[in-house]
Amino acid sequence: MALAQMAADGVTRAVAFSQYPQYSCTTTGSSLNDLWRTQARLGLEGRFRWSIIDRWPTHPGYIGAMAEAVRDGLARYPAEVRDDVLLMFSAHSLPLSVIERGDSYPQEMGATVHAVLDALALPNPSLLCYQSEVGPVRWLGPSTEHTIRRLAHGKRHNVLAIPIAFVNDHIETLSELDIEYGGLAHRLGLQGFVRAPALNDRPAFLEALAGLVHAHLEDGALHSPRYRERCPGCTGGPGCRQLPDPAGARAAHGLRVMAMA
Ligand code: FES
Repeated sequence: MALAQMAADGVTRAVAFSQYPQYSCTTTGSSLNDLWRTQARLGLEGRFRWSIIDRWPTHPGYIGAMAEAVRDGLARYPAEVRDDVLLMFSAHSLPLSVIERGDSYPQEMGATVHAVLDALALPNPSLLCYQSEVGPVRWLGPSTEHTIRRLAHGKRHNVLAIPIAFVNDHIETLSELDIEYGGLAHRLGLQGFVRAPALNDRPAFLEALAGLVHAHLEDGALHSPRYRERCPGCTGGPGCRQLPDPAGARAAHGLRVMAMA
């Protein structure tokens, strides 16, 4: 248990660093709520002074690392077709009920894709779609699966799938994008369906993470300006988007950085 270990180590100052670049109350928000609840359950309230890195959808280092990954994916195509490859950004979907209560995820995802395309400055067509829907509820779309089916119907063969909400490889990239959607694409005749690499331990990405923490500590801000804005339809109760025991500005003594994903 990280919190108990932190207390045992004598940590007094901590940064909760979300590894979700784009904020959603269902990911970063719920993880932070759970962090505060766990801290209370362990009797550790008041033990640490906290600040939060709650979102970084257009951080230049992150965007630059994403552009690198896209270029690495494009390099797998012959030069003569490279400019025509469709850049298919695929992000984790959310139930529409979450979007309708005011979650900022879609706008932050759009901002990321826009910034990556600006950084690439390439002529390729592009689109953003959403994957990983489960259950009978309505989900944010267009879905990655339906997008692949439509592209196959339109006789487009070269499609670069770019995992955009996922900063490292896990089931949504290795299983869902590579095996499930990759298999579907090839069965439907999209022979040029390729997946761009996830960021993983790409040096430019690691530098971006270090830069984010450094800038956060230098700045002295407790969280992003938007962290305290609650969804108009918030269902999280009074504890949603709280920050217990906020750090004083530049209080770096006894610091521990906690990455959350
Ligand atoms: Fe978004 Fe509570 S659910 S602020």
